[in-house]
Amino acid sequence: MKPPLLIVAGAKGAVGTTVAAAVAGMKEKTADVLPWLTTAHWIPFHALSGITFAGWDTSDKSVIQSLDGQAILPVEKYRDHAVFLDGLDIRLPPAPALPFREQVRLLDCDFRDFKAAWPDHHPVFINLLPACEAHDLDKCRSLEEISDVAQPFRFPDLPYVLAALQNGIPVVNFTSNRIEFPLVVDEAVKAGLPLCGRDGKTGQTYLKVVIASALKARNLYIDGWYSLNILGNDDGRNLADPRKASGKLDNKTAFLDTILGYRVGERYGHSTHRVSIDYYAPRGDCKEAWDVIDFSGLFGMPMSLRLNLQLRDSILAAPMVVDLAFWMAALHTAGRVGLVPELGFYFKKAVGDDPPVTFQDQMDALARLEKLSRSGKGDRTCLREGKG
Ligand SMILES: NC(=O)c1ccc[n+]([C@@H]2O[C@H](COP(=O)([O-])OP(=O)(O)OC[C@H]3O[C@@H](n4cnc5c(N)ncnc54)[C@H](O)[C@@H]3O)[C@@H](O)[C@H]2O)c1
Repeated sequence: MKPPLLIVAGAKGAVGTTVAAAVAGMKEKTADVLPWLTTAHWIPFHALSGITFAGWDTSDKSVIQSLDGQAILPVEKYRDHAVFLDGLDIRLPPAPALPFREQVRLLDCDFRDFKAAWPDHHPVFINLLPACEAHDLDKCRSLEEISDVAQPFRFPDLPYVLAALQNGIPVVNFTSNRIEFPLVVDEAVKAGLPLCGRDGKTGQTYLKVVIASALKARNLYIDGWYSLNILGNDDGRNLADPRKASGKLDNKTAFLDTILGYRVGERYGHSTHRVSIDYYAPRGDCKEAWDVIDFSGLFGMPMSLRLNLQLRDSILAAPMVVDLAFWMAALHTAGRVGLVPELGFYFKKAVGDDPPVTFQDQMDALARLEKLSRSGKGDRTCLREGKG
């Protein structure tokens, strides 16, 4: 297996720089990073340590200046890697005012450059752009049509994804932005590429899946679930705009009824699964979340569970991004094509047909995928996005 080259859109954001620092750590201080990867036990060491990083960002700060400003990591965790980090090939993206097709063309040239510079690596495109308003491009049946429809609004994710697919590069969509339109999935299938997403399941939603699965396994009935998040990083500031947060809120809500097999709040005539995200600057990347879970047991007797999470957004997200790069490189090598719903363990809204929903199902699906990747034999199943 070749080591992955992570080609990241949004490379100097909070998650991007933490991934870059982790990549640097994997070369020289593996004990800082490898214990927190879920793939390290089956990926060969030369691929783990050979991993590298490139990409784009609109920011003109250096990676080190970005890390200093974000204050996610103590300086001693990245200071020794300053030469590597500031030597990374991170480019400015095409100007947003350029015609859509021209943006794809320029990004296509960048992808070609990256591939030529690292011929012994397996390129994987990682989308870490900010959350944006949803766009419906489902009816587009050709690249020309998609270019025309996408031209008037600002949806930067799409030119990156199309240029990646044109270059034979698998795609990881870590954002809540819906990019998996039928035409995009068709392009991935035609190009023989795997594509996974959507919206990294890093903290609160990860534990919600675990707890909901555990309560369901005991036939305890969930009457309501109230979730509150506060965070103070750029992602949190961006999500303060309800139009940009709506995809994320949907991804943080929709899965619960699917796990449980009934509508939470059905007896009230409306959903009692409530999720809100508030921007609260003092917290920076150290997000806090609270959950109140009202449920009932034998004779309908009510009980309640309180959860308080004090997490670090990018510290949780970065190893998952690295893991997903390894998954995509391994699955691409194994011949897996199209959407990969079995990676539901990593995503709030796993795209593809019948993604596993309970925690147990997600772990089982991952174990099966690992077997497939280790054997190097893909099932060549062309999966398309299924329900919603
Ligand atoms: N941190 C988590 O736990 C988590 C979990 C799930 C999803 N996500 C998603 O991952 C994404 C990244 O999160 P983040 O905290 O790093 O966000 P961020 O706002 O810190 O980073 C986004 C970066 O993208 C850059 N950017 C903006 N437009 C660009 C363009 N056209 N081309 C290239 N770069 C551009 C910005 O300059 C910024 O550096 C967000 O969409 C977020 O919602 C994060």
